[in-house]
Amino acid sequence: MKNRKILIGVTGGIAAYKTCSLVNMFLKEGADVKVIMTEGATKFVTPLTFQALTNHPVYIDMWQTYNKEEVEHISLAKWADIMIISPATASVIGKVACGIADNLLTTVIMALPKETDVLIVPAMNTNMWENPITQRNIETLVGYKKYKFVETRKGILACRDEGAGKIADNDDILEEARKILAKK
Ligand SMILES: Cc1cc2nc3c(=O)[nH]c(=O)nc-3n(C[C@H](O)[C@H](O)[C@H](O)COP(=O)(O)O)c2cc1C
Repeated sequence: MKNRKILIGVTGGIAAYKTCSLVNMFLKEGADVKVIMTEGATKFVTPLTFQALTNHPVYIDMWQTYNKEEVEHISLAKWADIMIISPATASVIGKVACGIADNLLTTVIMALPKETDVLIVPAMNTNMWENPITQRNIETLVGYKKYKFVETRKGILACRDEGAGKIADNDDILEEARKILAKK
């Protein structure tokens, strides 16, 4: 993992708080980590947390110039050795499956070079997870090969429902990322 460039996309799910620990795990392994957040994600975790952890600006707004010399969505996409979306909402999975690029995160995903894999870590309420639209969107993405998924677990969810859709453990996410990077 040393010196690997990990681009982490955080979306608007309650499990966003777990991504702080995930970022820390990558950093401890010697990786360089940059974080992109959706507006929704900023309702759950403050960008300052990720900024302080990573020592990089946190990228949120498509129209803000973070580095004057660069077109951000292109330079971030080229920078990454792997992109991880954790947590991935039903919405972002649907957008990516449909080729929608309407914010910085989804635009970067669209702009990734073909050799850069995307590891998607879904987390959502059981009904959202079992919704055939979500399942169809996942099938679509799996068909492109570039998009890998970390399996959700069954358990008690943040909304206190019990069932499928619970986010994977950070250890499993790290392991999947390691496997993808080892092939590069
Ligand atoms: C308290 C709360 C928790 C939420 N948790 C989730 C979640 O775990 N998974 C999910 O898919 N959507 C969840 N949502 C809904 C998303 O925030 C919503 O679909 C949003 O449009 C996602 O946008 P984004 O993917 O651009 O961040 C939650 C919403 C609220 C208010």
